[in-house]
Amino acid sequence: MFYLSNTPEETFNLGKKTVAGLRGGDILTLSGELGAGKTVFIKGLASGFGIKQTVRSPSFNLMKIYKLPEQKNIKHLVHLDCYRLKSAQEVINIGLLEYLGAPNTVCAIEWPEKIAPLLKKFKIQKIKISILKNDRRKISLN
Ligand SMILES: Nc1ncnc2c1ncn2[C@@H]1O[C@H](COP(=O)(O)OP(=O)(O)O)[C@@H](O)[C@H]1O
Ligand SMILES: [Mg+2]
Repeated sequence: MFYLSNTPEETFNLGKKTVAGLRGGDILTLSGELGAGKTVFIKGLASGFGIKQTVRSPSFNLMKIYKLPEQKNIKHLVHLDCYRLKSAQEVINIGLLEYLGAPNTVCAIEWPEKIAPLLKKFKIQKIKISILKNDRRKISLN
């Protein structure tokens, strides 16, 4: 299934709507080149979860854990951006495995290919964003 997005707002809203179908333990990966809109989509997720805090790209601190308002038995949204990662060990060191697949947590992961071995044993919802032209994006969900 795929969607076409013409604006950042449309991508944000798609992320926001995606929340309705999520359950604790879910892991979403977001692939696509720099500037595709992966972080925009995750900002939409956070908004859908009722997170009021500003969601920034965690490229510099790798992992951000957002506490959710009481809802849906999901307590945390973990936003991981592996772009600058040199080895999967780095995310193990900062405690990712406590959250990955945990029943009260949803994880959204940018540049998942950097930690592919850690993700192998999980069922992943893969989102791929491709830049078409200017602000147009193709967003595939599976
Ligand atoms: N249709 C669109 N969907 C998402 N972002 C878009 C779109 N059109 C333009 N943009 C812009 O592209 C950039 C995407 O940034 P970001 O989400 O940080 O990318 P990524 O996390 O994939 O590197 C933003 O500056 C955003 O305004
Ligand atoms: Mg990003």
